[in-house]
Amino acid sequence: MIAIEPNDAIVGATVRGLDLAAGVPDEAFRIALGALSTYGVLRFPGQSLDAPALKAFASRFGSLEVNVANMFYEPGHPEVMILSNMRKDGKPVGLSDAGQDWHTDMSYSAEIAFANVLYGIHIPHRDGQPLGGTEFASMYAAYDTLPEAIKHRLDGATATHDFNKFWEEMRRRPGSERPPLTEEQRRRKPPVSQPMVLTHPITGRRALYANPGYAIRIDGWTEGESAEMLSYLFAHQVRSEFRYVHRWTEGDVLIWDNLCLIHNAWPDYTADEHRLIKRCQVMADQVFDPAFARQAILPDASARAA
Ligand code: OGA
Ligand code: MN
Repeated sequence: MIAIEPNDAIVGATVRGLDLAAGVPDEAFRIALGALSTYGVLRFPGQSLDAPALKAFASRFGSLEVNVANMFYEPGHPEVMILSNMRKDGKPVGLSDAGQDWHTDMSYSAEIAFANVLYGIHIPHRDGQPLGGTEFASMYAAYDTLPEAIKHRLDGATATHDFNKFWEEMRRRPGSERPPLTEEQRRRKPPVSQPMVLTHPITGRRALYANPGYAIRIDGWTEGESAEMLSYLFAHQVRSEFRYVHRWTEGDVLIWDNLCLIHNAWPDYTADEHRLIKRCQVMADQVFDPAFARQAILPDASARAA
């Protein structure tokens, strides 16, 4: 039987009692869906998945993305992207610097992402401690704690998000192997407008959706007003009390909700400390369908983290 154990932290829960490779029964899926959008990130420890099983699990939450800049994926399965600093015959086997600063997956895209599913295969360790953690911040908490006057100003506001912002920031890092985006890649992902605040389709809670990785400008505001608000929000939303770090164990499957969290991959390991993760990005095509969202079984309020 499925059991959800909330973390002793602002976000996150561990899900026990499921062998994801064996398939997830409907009732368990509905409980997991409610827990995901309530706790933001779920860990399923001790899993063993091949590419089709990872895809099958992730597809329960929505359709799977094929990344525009996806140079590294499982042969025959372009939806299964490989994140790794490992090399084979001198060539990288995966994207080595994915997500290494605060961001929301795919907020740069007209079709946004609901959830990202990561399966940890090799986790770097030093002195017995896991490295390469994935950090999250609750955008429910970030929104809830904004001064009323700012909530009011953000009501109905949109911001432009640009894929190239994060890409260029990563390219500026020493040792980056990212080439500039091609004209074709830029054409396929032009800047898009997104609401500054989303109402989560499952929990009904409001979450700050602007994020430091991709948001470049609040639409219709002067340059100065936009820059001032964005720099305030970018500092506010990563306040330490909103944050939680997932420290990986091999065999973990981690799924997080991009509608209510921002995240940041810790680059605290070296090229010789190997990390290998397979991932499927789940689009928000289903979660905004009321019939889909209604399936979710929300945890008891009494069991819910603050
Ligand atoms: C991602 C990402 C984080 C990590 O895949 O979008 O941000 O810890 N990954 O690898
Ligand atoms: Mn990411």
